[in-house]
Amino acid sequence: MQVVGINSSPRKKSNTDLLLTTVLTGASDGGCKTVHIDLYNYEIEYCKACDTCYKTGSCVLMDEFPDIYEVILESDGIILSSPNYINNVTAKMKTLLDRMADTVHCQRLLGKYSAAVSTAGGSGAQEVADYLNQSLFIMGASVVGSVGVNLADGEEMFQKGVDQSYQLGIQLADAILTKAEYPDQQQGHAAMLERMKQLVSFRREEWPYEYEYFTHKKWI
Ligand SMILES: Cc1cc2nc3c(=O)[nH]c(=O)nc-3n(C[C@H](O)[C@H](O)[C@H](O)COP(=O)(O)O)c2cc1C
Repeated sequence: MQVVGINSSPRKKSNTDLLLTTVLTGASDGGCKTVHIDLYNYEIEYCKACDTCYKTGSCVLMDEFPDIYEVILESDGIILSSPNYINNVTAKMKTLLDRMADTVHCQRLLGKYSAAVSTAGGSGAQEVADYLNQSLFIMGASVVGSVGVNLADGEEMFQKGVDQSYQLGIQLADAILTKAEYPDQQQGHAAMLERMKQLVSFRREEWPYEYEYFTHKKWI
């Protein structure tokens, strides 16, 4: 059981990363091996929309994205974290997500579990955390929960967010251990897989790698 937590704040004493490391502590106490990744330590280039990953399964960009992606794929649980930057995730986090379009098509996170945390100066932390979980959901992951804390709500609320983060880590570990099932989400995953099946079948001449992936999985 491995859980990876990905921090996308550039700040040294990041509020968001404090929530993330607390989720990881909860997951560790729940029996998981944990890995912490600071995105700002990695060189990740922007997706060029060349479609090569759809065609061949490989990316043309030579950077450190594969190092992170490998850890994501070998993990059972993924926690994404980002401060609210102009009512959205940080550019670094968005850059990572954009590199994972093939992950959406191939539903590579099916069977994995996700969680997300965010902080904001004034408002919007929960919306950012929800976006992060939604991103993992459309890649196939089942969402366990999230924590969003608006710092303007005061120190007491931040401490409450820290406590919730620890509980989220425990819940994430438990979901992995028990292979938790969420009927509503499973319906969503089935609908998403059907959509991707239609797409990949329709584009099979242009995207032979993805078509082959679907046939190998016996989804087509
Ligand atoms: C570039 C930038 C954009 C921000 N945009 C927002 C925003 O739209 N709304 C908000 O409430 N706080 C905003 N903030 C404040 C951060 O969300 C807040 O300070 C957060 O807790 C920082 O998290 P960190 O300590 O993990 O880096 C912004 C901060 C920066 C640096």
